[in-house]
This record gives sequence, C-alpha cells and structure tokens, in this order.
Amino acid sequence: MNDKIQVISKFALEGLNAQALESTALAAKQTLESGSGAGNDFLGWLHLPSSIDEQQLQDIEKSAAQLRSECEYVISIGIGGSYLGAKAVIDALSDHFAAYKSGGPKVLFAGSNIGEDYLYDMMDLVRGHKFGIIVISKSGTTTEPGIAFRIFKDMLEKQEGKAFAQRNIVAVTDARRGALRNLATQEGYATFVIPDDVGGRFSVLTPVGLLPIAVAGFDIRALVAGAVEMEKDGDEQVLNALYQDGKKIEILANFTPRLHFIAEWWKQLYGESEGKQHKGIFPASVDFTTDLHSMGQWIQDGERTIFETVLSVGDQQHEVIIPSDEADLDGLNYIAGKNVDYVNKMAELGTRLAHVDGGVPNLLITIPTVNERYLGQLIYFFEKACGVSGYMLGVNPFDQPGVEAYKKNMFALLEKPGHEEATAAIREKLKN
Ligand code: PA5
Repeated sequence: MNDKIQVISKFALEGLNAQALESTALAAKQTLESGSGAGNDFLGWLHLPSSIDEQQLQDIEKSAAQLRSECEYVISIGIGGSYLGAKAVIDALSDHFAAYKSGGPKVLFAGSNIGEDYLYDMMDLVRGHKFGIIVISKSGTTTEPGIAFRIFKDMLEKQEGKAFAQRNIVAVTDARRGALRNLATQEGYATFVIPDDVGGRFSVLTPVGLLPIAVAGFDIRALVAGAVEMEKDGDEQVLNALYQDGKKIEILANFTPRLHFIAEWWKQLYGESEGKQHKGIFPASVDFTTDLHSMGQWIQDGERTIFETVLSVGDQQHEVIIPSDEADLDGLNYIAGKNVDYVNKMAELGTRLAHVDGGVPNLLITIPTVNERYLGQLIYFFEKACGVSGYMLGVNPFDQPGVEAYKKNMFALLEKPGHEEATAAIREKLKN
C-alpha cells in the first residue's frame, strides 16, 4: 500500500499546454511560500502542522477528556471554517450509524444555520441529558453561532447549574478581540486561541478542528502527523492537482459515503478562496454511485464546462461479501463471492472512463484508506493547492469580502443598532 495520498492526472492532461501551466503553478507556489502575495498576513496555516507542539496537543486532549468525562452530548457551535473541518473529519472517521449506537459522547453541530426547527429538535434531544458546548468563532461576533450559543448556554445553566456549565463550556476564539472573548473571560470558561494569521477555512488543524475531533474520540496526533508529512513532502502532488483545462466548474466526486462532508469542507475552502472579482472555478460535489442516478446524466451529457476530481479510497475498513443464491432470481450470482467494494471500484473505474469519453477531464486523488493520518495529508494538500490555485488565478485567496453583503442586509432588516441608514435604504428598495 502506498503511504501517501497520490494525485493521478492521466485523464486530465490531454490538449493542455502542460509546460505553461507548470511554470504558472510554480510561480504561484513561489509567491505563496515566499509570503509575497496578497493576503500574506494569513499564511499561518502554511507551516502550522509542523509548529504544533506537545503542550498544545496535551491541552486539547485534556479539555476533550473533561468534556468526555461529564457529557453525553457535546454541541460544537460554529459556521463556515469554524464548523466544516471538524464535521468533515468526524464524519469521515465515524461509524455511519454512530448516532443510533451506544458509546459516546456524541458530537452535535449547531450554529451553522438559523433553522428554528433544527435548534428545537436539538434542544429536545439534549433535554435531561448532560451536555457540554464548544463555541467556536474567530471574530466572536458571527450571528448564527451567537444565537445558538445564547440558547444552549441558557439551557445548560438552567438544566445543570452554573458550575457544571462553566466546567463544560469551552470557547475557541481570537486571543484578544470579539464578544466571545469578553464573554469567556467574564464567565471563566476554558479557552483556546485561533491564531491571528490563520483564516477560518484554513483552521481545521488548530483547536477549531482538533478539539471537537478529540472529543469525538479520534487521534489528533495522527491527523497532525499526516499533515506534517504533506507539509514537508507534498509539492509534487500539489502541482499535479492544478490541471483544470480552463473549465468553469470542478466537481469533487467520491464513491465512499464517509467522505460527503470532506467535499462540503473542500467546497467552502475553494469557493470562499477563489470566487472573487468575477473569477474562480465553481466547486461542486457529488456522492457516487448515489448521484450517478441523478447528476450522472448531466455530467455525462450536459454542457461541457466541467472538470472532475475523484477521491478514491483504497481499502475499506470492513469486508462484506455478496452471498450466492441458488435460485438467482435477481441475476446477481455473477458477482457472488465478491466483496462490495470490488463492485464499487468497478463502478468508479467505469464512471471515470465514461466521463472522460464524454469530454470531462478527470483527476484522481487516491487515499490508501480513510484514517486520521491520510485525512491530515488530504487536508494540508487541499489547503496548499488552494493557495497556489488562488494565486494562479490572480486573486487574494485569504479574504472573503463577498460574505458581508448578505449580513449587511440581514442586520438592516433586523434593525440592528448602528444600521439605521441601511434599514431606511432597504425599506425604500422593498417598496419599489
Ligand atoms: O473562512 C472563513 O473565514 C469563514 O468561513 C469563517 O470561518 C466563518 O464566516 C465563521 O467566522 P467566525 O469564526 O468569525 O465566526
């Protein structure tokens, strides 16, 4: 078995000026590594894995052990980069039906939407059970997690008392600034710092991701070690990943249900990093073979604006053999005795060949198996490829000015103090 994730661009290169592309990619990589590009005050993630020390890991593990010892549920509250990394890794590593099985604590996620019924149902679930909260916000002022935290903090204090709440609420936020920092200081919560120079979507290897992942019972040391491997020795893979053939949409496809949220994390990483100045490849994702029965038609035959990257997993963790059946009424005896993943692999290869034939260039990323180490490699690999790709495109990959537009309107409509002028303007607009 290979001991690293690999990028295979066999079906991606046709018709491309690979040499020109490589020199642009190398120049962008140099800009990133020398810290001479736009947004260079947000490059803390670049050497983050190798800078994580024993003390930091121990502090996170200790805090996780506290939450695990007293809580049946731990609610991780956050949105965007303060949510997706932890959710992606925990989902990738968990038993698919962990929610219905014993063993815990269960990590729940809130604050990534403003769904009233979602919050109600979660409150209903944790009512009468011991629960803890990890509240994560770099700015400390984001509305969605702010609302969720206010609700669950209030509930926890009423249900278990102030002392329990104080012991089992952990805040992950900026070292100095923001409402959450002030509140945590005031209430005496344990806190972890999100470094100034690491942006939200690049923060999964900080306590933002590591604490919830440790609470879920996974090995954060192996995750970090995998990322260190890629930090030290992943350049070729990063460059291989940048063959995009001038397409407008990149679809990240997986054939393994546990990778669904890895794709959600990846979409945020690329969408928020590259979608600027009316530029940027639109990142989309599909879960195969499920989506071959929905989006498969479009990918095979629709407008030829897409490029596909397949996340291919070498070994599953368990084996299930397809049984033989004497009557063979379903006609499946031809695959009897094979394991399910063998069939899945044939579906994967068949799909890639069909899509290439249909005019969709294809890049393959192979992951030996889904474990902490290879996820660490994958995370760092995508982060670095994203930084390089953003610079190739000529944008600042580390800001997200467009995210403010909806907030401005929402605050105006909610009549948030300080937004009076915008409220008046939006009312006028809605009249017409
Ligand atoms: O990548 C980003 O910077 C964003 O997606 C943020 O993570 C997201 O907006 C949440 O911000 P905060 O952690 O300040 O609440």
